[in-house]
Amino acid sequence: MPRLLLGALLAITLAPLLVLVGLVLAGALAPQAGLVAGAAVIAGAAGLAMIWAEDLRLVRQALRDAGATPAADAAPSSGARSRAATLPQMAVLTSDITRLSRQLAERDATLARLLKTDDIIIETLPDPLLVLAADRAVLRTNRAARSAFGGDIQALLRQPDLRDAIGRALAAPAPAQPTQIEFARTVPVPRDILATLLPLEPPLPDGGRLILVLSDRTRERALERMRADFVANASHELRTPLASLIGFIETLRGPASDDAPARARFLPIMAEQAERMNRLIADLLSLSRVELSEHQPPADPVALRPLVQRLLAEMEPRRVARSIRMELTGPDALPPVPGDADQLVQLVQNLLDNAIKYGAEGGLVRIGLEPAPPGRWPARPGVLLSVADDGPGIARQHLPRLTERFYRVDQGRSRAIGGTGLGLAIVKHVVNRHRGQLVIDSEEGKGASFQVWLPTAPEADAPR
Ligand SMILES: Nc1ncnc2c1ncn2[C@@H]1O[C@H](COP(=O)(O)OP(=O)(O)OP(=O)(O)O)[C@@H](O)[C@H]1O
Ligand SMILES: [Mg+2]
Repeated sequence: MPRLLLGALLAITLAPLLVLVGLVLAGALAPQAGLVAGAAVIAGAAGLAMIWAEDLRLVRQALRDAGATPAADAAPSSGARSRAATLPQMAVLTSDITRLSRQLAERDATLARLLKTDDIIIETLPDPLLVLAADRAVLRTNRAARSAFGGDIQALLRQPDLRDAIGRALAAPAPAQPTQIEFARTVPVPRDILATLLPLEPPLPDGGRLILVLSDRTRERALERMRADFVANASHELRTPLASLIGFIETLRGPASDDAPARARFLPIMAEQAERMNRLIADLLSLSRVELSEHQPPADPVALRPLVQRLLAEMEPRRVARSIRMELTGPDALPPVPGDADQLVQLVQNLLDNAIKYGAEGGLVRIGLEPAPPGRWPARPGVLLSVADDGPGIARQHLPRLTERFYRVDQGRSRAIGGTGLGLAIVKHVVNRHRGQLVIDSEEGKGASFQVWLPTAPEADAPR
């Protein structure tokens, strides 16, 4: 600073001093007057130089503060900034610098907020997302990716279909379009994955060249397969009795047109086939009705005990035909279940029907209806309906699939006794709609037990 001051002083005073010395030497100015004038010039110049140097210091201070201020609202580093420069142009300059620095700090803060928002969006995206560098190094993963693939990401990236697709995406000339591939993984669990590859040109500041979004399509694919299977199964189930009916009709119109005994033999079989188709269609319709209303828990109070007693009475002839005894236990008074009476009839009917059809001839079927005991069932109040037979039971490996549509343990036997394989699927959907639980227990040779837990009070937080 003193050097600057000295320089300024010299620059301002040099010319007038030289003129004064010239004038004194030429005799145009008395030496005393010259000295006074010289002193006045030096004093004036010194004052100006000091003001100028101080203003300059303030400008430098303002610049330093601008460089150091991280946020818009940060305080100036010294009191200097609050003091205005003396020279008007300098004052304008310092205030411009201060304003500029504030704007820059605000822009910085906005940028930081935007980056943070981006981070949060990427982190909370429901689909797994990875950012890869040009050399395929993983630069970033979001939460979904970490929880879905964890330490498995490298193995995933080595998956041949995905590896090739990444290679193609990275080699594609700009502007590269997003591409998608679908592939299946078998380990650690089977999964269908849809990968979307988004090449980045220019790359991200951190070197990211490719965004990879991996959507799990396992459920959708399974549903699609199920739907296709369902249509195939339903058509197959209908075609069998229909083909038999068509056959009989042709026989009766042709070779057996005058054959009264044949007609008498065929007609009951035809009626039975027609009845079978009728049952199948009725079951399919009720299944789709339950499914359509499944999101809406029913609310009418239904007294289960009278309902079960009525159905037991209706099944009396079929029970007697197989010499089966049926025993209903549990208290007479039970709280009503918020439910759909028609659907609960179907549920009980299907369970009793199975017990009579598949239970042991001359056996015993125990039906229990009681408040749900604590332990295995949800803590909310509920009732437990159980139907247990002492028939041949069901082998363990079939249990998880019993509630699938058209699933039968013994295709031939079930079909022969008129089963469509939809009964337990209907039971499961009715239980779901009532927000209940179904547990099937069985061991081969030791009978089968079906337990249905139904809540007697609506769930506090209803959506499921
Ligand atoms: N109590 C039971 N004991 C042994 N096996 C059973 C019992 N209940 C059901 N199953 C087996 O589960 C399969 C599926 O039962 P489900 O009620 O869904 O169909 P279904 O009885 O064959 O036909 P539907 O009930 O539509 O007339 C049956 O085919 C049968 O093999
Ligand atoms: Mg059944």
